[in-house]
Amino acid sequence: MKKILVIHGPNLNLLGEREPGVYGTDNFDSINDEITALALEKGMHCEIFQSNHEGEIIDELHLARKSFDAVILNAGAYTHYSYAIRDAIAAIRIPVIEVHLSNIHARDEFRHKSVIAPVCVGQIAGFGKRSYFLAVDALEYILGDDTNE
Ligand code: DQA
Repeated sequence: MKKILVIHGPNLNLLGEREPGVYGTDNFDSINDEITALALEKGMHCEIFQSNHEGEIIDELHLARKSFDAVILNAGAYTHYSYAIRDAIAAIRIPVIEVHLSNIHARDEFRHKSVIAPVCVGQIAGFGKRSYFLAVDALEYILGDDTNE
């Protein structure tokens, strides 16, 4: 069974209460339950990690290279300026999909730039919690097995 890791960056632990008009009203745990259940339906084991600290996200990416087949990453605001997270993604060989609940390109100017996008397989943004579900779909395709053919 393929193993995937979802990494949520800063402030995403407050999903449900944080700016619900932008990020939705579903809470963090229920979204994670949905992601994990969807992954399982598709025959993938999914684990969740969240941190508000840049270094912890980098450590987790390093660990993931040994024990997971792919990562779904919502780096939160680090997306826009963390060269350290970008370098960590570039350093590991497993595919990383960049995810955002909101459409970062339709928001504040500083959110239009993703410094991690060039080292990710692709970016999914603007579909609320479904952005994560689409990323699971994408990984099913990327990690491919006979069930996709
Ligand atoms: C976000 C978008 C970022 O700009 C923001 O800083 C977040 C959440 C999103 O999921 O839409 O924390 O990554």
